Amino acid sequence: MDIEVFDDHEWADQVAKRWISHMSHHPDSRICLPTGETPRPVYTRSASQVDLSEATIFLLDEFDLPLGSAARCDSMLKRDLLGSLTKPPGAFHQLDVTAADPETECARFDALVSDGGLRMTLLGLGGNGHLGLNEPGTRADSPTRPVRLTPTTTQAAARYDADARPVGGMTLGMQRILGSDEIWLLVTGSHKAAILGETMKGPITPNLPASYLRNHRNTTVFADSSAAAGL
Ligand code: PGA
Repeated sequence: MDIEVFDDHEWADQVAKRWISHMSHHPDSRICLPTGETPRPVYTRSASQVDLSEATIFLLDEFDLPLGSAARCDSMLKRDLLGSLTKPPGAFHQLDVTAADPETECARFDALVSDGGLRMTLLGLGGNGHLGLNEPGTRADSPTRPVRLTPTTTQAAARYDADARPVGGMTLGMQRILGSDEIWLLVTGSHKAAILGETMKGPITPNLPASYLRNHRNTTVFADSSAAAGL
């Protein structure tokens, strides 16, 4: 696992620049995108320049919140990126948390991802070490599935919308994430320094799903100085 560290005030510009460049070299990529506070400044800086018109986008996860809730992942991606693109993405796929049969819906999404795989996956790092909604306790071969959230993840969602209290959701499983050709783990802020240290130096364990990335052949951590302070 490689790491690149940028000064806090340069981090978003640097990651945006690299992502825009990556997409210009691989325009028809199948990519998986996260949402949240970490990728937001990368998306807002990229939106007017990144060309996703030939790309296929998979949204990493979704909370069990009503359609239109500001804390839903699809609302955040639309607000931060999709709504400001000059051209719409070539294709966009997401998990439907309202599906009558959640298992079938997750199997549908999993098959869509697996049929062609992922060229690139961007990820944020949960405060508890989760990736997507693959919470502590998740196996490395976990499928795409409905999940229950840990209390810390429910609380963390209130950062996106003070009223949001998701208790579950759906997530791309670790198996498909780890099957991605390339992974960029985005980590910012001093509040992520301890969990980033554990991710990079602690045991590789289901208790810290992000630690599985150390077994992946092509993962780069993009951290700001605050998050990397303890490394
Ligand atoms: P954040 O979320 O970027 O909003 O901190 C990260 C995550 O929970 O994956």
